[in-house]
Amino acid sequence: MNNEAIAICLPSFNRNRQRFKNNLVENTVLGKASCRLFHRRRNMLLLFIFCSFLSSITVIQNAPIPLEMVDMTYTFDETTLYWPTQKKFELVVIENGTQEEGYWLQMEEYFSGIHVGTHMDAPCHFAKGRWSVDQIPLSHLTAPAAVIDITKKAEEDRDALVQVDDFEKWEMMSGQSLDGTIIMIRSGWGKRWNDKEAFIGTPDNDTTKFHYPGISKEAAQWLMDNRNVYGVGTDTLSLDNGPSQELMAHRIILDKNVYGLENVANMDMLPIYGATLYVMPMKIGNASGAPTRIIAVFPKILFTKDGTTATERSLREIIIFNK
Ligand SMILES: *[C@@H]1O[C@H](CO)[C@@H](O)[C@H](O)[C@H]1NC(C)=O
Ligand SMILES: *[C@@H]1O[C@H](CO)[C@@H](O)[C@H](O)[C@H]1NC(C)=O
Ligand SMILES: *[C@@H]1O[C@H](CO)[C@@H](O)[C@H](O)[C@H]1NC(C)=O
Repeated sequence: MNNEAIAICLPSFNRNRQRFKNNLVENTVLGKASCRLFHRRRNMLLLFIFCSFLSSITVIQNAPIPLEMVDMTYTFDETTLYWPTQKKFELVVIENGTQEEGYWLQMEEYFSGIHVGTHMDAPCHFAKGRWSVDQIPLSHLTAPAAVIDITKKAEEDRDALVQVDDFEKWEMMSGQSLDGTIIMIRSGWGKRWNDKEAFIGTPDNDTTKFHYPGISKEAAQWLMDNRNVYGVGTDTLSLDNGPSQELMAHRIILDKNVYGLENVANMDMLPIYGATLYVMPMKIGNASGAPTRIIAVFPKILFTKDGTTATERSLREIIIFNK
C-alpha cells in the first residue's frame, strides 16, 4: 500500500497530496470519535493500539516521494560556448595555496559576457521596458516543464524550426495545456556542446554562417497569442535558428515578458511532461540576462500511458502519465 502511495507521478502529485490530506482529516475525525467510544468503555489498551495504528498510517502517507534531479546547466569554464560578440567566460586565480599565516586560501575573479553558456535572456534583452533579470517573479521561475521534442526533424535539417503543430502535438500527447509551463525545446543539440563547429555550424565567428535549430516566427507568435507560458528554453545557442537575422522568436517572446533560456544542458534526461523546473538566474540588477542554474525534479517512479512503470532512462523520452 505504501509503495502505491509513493509511486505517484508529478502531475497528480498535488491532487494526491490533497487526497492524503482529506484522508488524514477523515482519519482524525474517525480517530476522535473512536477514541471517545473507547474512553467510555475505559478500554485504555485497545485505545492505545488503535491510535498507534492510526498514527502509523499517517507516517506512511507522509513518506517522501523519491525524486530524480537533473542538472540542466553546463559548467562555466574555458570551453564554454557563447555568442561571438560577447566576452568569453574567463576565470582568473587570485589565490590558491597555503598563505604565510598558515591557512589555505582559494579565490578567483571571473570575467564574462552575460549571454554566455547556460543563461537566461531576460525580457528586456529584446523588448524595451520589459522585466530585467532581477524583476522576474519567483512564481515564473518554478513551473512544470513542457518538453517539445524536434530531434527527428533537427537530424534531417540542422536549421529546423519549431512550428505550431509541434506545440499542438505536445498538448495532444500529454492531454495538458501548455498554460503555466516553461517550454523546453529539445533538438538533440546537447550532444554537440563539446564541439563548437558542430554546435554553431562554423568554426569562425561569422554569424551569417550559423546553423542550428530554433523557433519559427509563426510558432512564437501562436504561443504568445494563445498560451500563457513563463519561459522558453532551447538546447542551442539561441531561441531563433542559426540563419535567422531578424531574430523574430526573441522579439516576439521577450516582448510578452516571457524569458528565454539558452544552451540548456541534459534536455534528453527529461520526460516530455512530469518534471518541475527550478530556474535560478544570478540576480543582477537591471541586467538583460544572467548565468542560470536550472534543475529539473521529477519522481523516480514514473508511469507511462498504459499504466506500466517507466524507471529506465530511455523510457523518460516518452510521455509520463498519471496512474
Ligand atoms: C586550486 O588548487 C586545488 C588544489 O591544488 C586544485 O584542485 C584546484 O583546481 C585549484 N583551483 C583553481 C581554480 O585553479
Ligand atoms: C572569435 O572571437 C573570439 C573573441 O570573442 C576570438 O578570441 C577568436 O579568436 C575568434 N575566432 C576566430 C576563428 O576568429
Ligand atoms: C537600475 O535602474 C534604475 C532606474 O534606471 C537605477 O535607479 C538603478 O540605479 C539601476 N541599478 C543598477 C544596479 O544599475
